[in-house]
Amino acid sequence: MTDLAPLLRVDHLGIDLHPRRQEPRTLVHDASFALAPGEALGLVGESGSGKSLTSRAIIRLLPRDARPRGTVAFDGQDVHALHGDRLTRYLGHDAAMIFQNPRAHINPVRSLGDFLTEPLVCHHGLSRAEARERLVPLLAEIGIPDGPRRLAQYPHQLSGGLLQRMMIAFALVTGPRLLLADEPTTALDVTTQRDVMAILDEQRHERHLALLFVTHDLALATAVCDRIAVMYAGTIVEQRPAAALHSGRRHPYTAGLLAARPGLGAPGARLPVIPGRPAAAHETPEGCPFAPRCAFAEDRCRAERPPLRPDGDGGVACHRADELAGDLDRTKEEA
Ligand SMILES: Nc1ncnc2c1ncn2[C@@H]1O[C@H](COP(=O)(O)OP(=O)(O)O)[C@@H](O)[C@H]1O
Ligand code: SF4
Ligand SMILES: [Mg+2]
Repeated sequence: MTDLAPLLRVDHLGIDLHPRRQEPRTLVHDASFALAPGEALGLVGESGSGKSLTSRAIIRLLPRDARPRGTVAFDGQDVHALHGDRLTRYLGHDAAMIFQNPRAHINPVRSLGDFLTEPLVCHHGLSRAEARERLVPLLAEIGIPDGPRRLAQYPHQLSGGLLQRMMIAFALVTGPRLLLADEPTTALDVTTQRDVMAILDEQRHERHLALLFVTHDLALATAVCDRIAVMYAGTIVEQRPAAALHSGRRHPYTAGLLAARPGLGAPGARLPVIPGRPAAAHETPEGCPFAPRCAFAEDRCRAERPPLRPDGDGGVACHRADELAGDLDRTKEEA
């Protein structure tokens, strides 16, 4: 965390699903983190850990049958209690989101100009022509020099990378202070991924944006973020400054993710894997959610859920964090 007062504070966020004629189930158990102006936090974890739902809760985009618990505060205001003008201001000006698959979020039968000018016309009272004038220099800034031509095109005429840049323009055009990016490069090919990530990184620095970067890619997150929050089965299990994560990790799951990064071992060597499969929050047993896959689980772990507690320059949710220190590289077979 930087010394600045947080712009976003998420406190013990939980998300429960209440499907009709079925038992309720918990999809996010306990997520707490804060984000200062200009800071980038990487929310990292395996598929199904609850990263997308957590980010969607921040902009009130949860499925209809999902109910949040805990609080999400933006600039000191409880986001889930906002309504009327304050809600419009929050969603139309202050916060914006970029999704994994831009095609799923852009109406295929409307021109990109129609789509991109919408927030300025609806929330800022500009005419379509004024909105286009404002968009063209922004498009140039993010590597789309022929803005007027692109605005006349339709989504199917653009590549995935170009469309994701358009989504970035859509997110930035209202001048938000908080940007949520949910796996923004996962659906793109490798070279395009690099370009789109570089644009995001540049824009967040230039605009002093608070960025929540949601990804399964720990290496990418540590490269572009100030801090990392590791999520497992709907719970934040560790937080650290990105630069300190490798040497300072204290949670066995974080250690497993770090060890499983490609390129670390000898050429041709098999990558270490975390045994078992990722679990969703509602599938985890009593006690520590990571216990079924953890090489260091003992009776206490299976009985009591460890809370996220302050630990050095971050936080960790593991009963045995203090005693494990040097042992974390052992695998389940060796333990
Ligand atoms: N609309 C939904 N209805 C039922 N379950 C859902 C819904 N959205 C997500 N889930 C479940 O919630 C869990 C967390 O999902 P998600 O936040 O998308 O994970 P992640 O982004 O980390 O891959 C998963 O088990 C997923 O199947
Ligand atoms: S609390 Fe126990 S089971 Fe959970 S991560 Fe720590 S050592 Fe492993
Ligand atoms: Mg997701």
